[in-house]
Amino acid sequence: PKRFVVAIDGPAAAGKGTISRALAARYGFAHLDTGLLYRATGLKALRDGHGTIDAPVAIAAARALRPEDLTADGLRTGPVGEAASVVAAIPEVRQALLDFQRAFAAQPSGAVLDGRDIGTVICPDADVKLFVTASDAVRARRRHAELAKSNPAITLEEVAGDLARRDARDAQRTDAPLKPADDALLLDTTELTIDAAIAEAAALITRKR
Ligand code: C5P
Repeated sequence: PKRFVVAIDGPAAAGKGTISRALAARYGFAHLDTGLLYRATGLKALRDGHGTIDAPVAIAAARALRPEDLTADGLRTGPVGEAASVVAAIPEVRQALLDFQRAFAAQPSGAVLDGRDIGTVICPDADVKLFVTASDAVRARRRHAELAKSNPAITLEEVAGDLARRDARDAQRTDAPLKPADDALLLDTTELTIDAAIAEAAALITRKR
């Protein structure tokens, strides 16, 4: 049987991760959160560069990335998200992470990958492409609630500013910018419950399978 691939892209904190995990569980697909690849590279680059990010160090970090780096502590923090977005704008970093993502997508179980460029660059032939969005305010509120669990002092304004800066950098870079593929379905989750968003995505997969 054909290997089914679902590509889920969109800006930070739009609900990609939640939707991807639910679809993977429901259909038995393997799931790759590709943001973790960039986060792990950013964290490694920050450490190796003693707090600043330098392109040659970031490229070496991406080339040396190992699966266990994707489960390191601290990958979900704001500063590491920022570092991820900086290293993600370096073409050689993206190139170093490409084969791993394509191989992951070719698994016999089928796969769902979420990120920024899955439908446009990594898996342009994906069977289902979704571009998940939500208003800036809703995305900031969701991410703030998440981050406040481990950092109660973090403010909504701080989170909103971080998201806006990161999205702008991701959308404006030359190599694989954040944008919907021409054939992606737009899913705006601003007014949707998690279950309703998952149901819409699942309906699309069931139709194509
Ligand atoms: O999805 P997440 O917020 O964890 O991604 C962190 C950063 O990694 C993004 O802001 C983006 O710069 C980068 N990224 C990317 N391409 C992907 C996934 C993530 O450039 N496919």
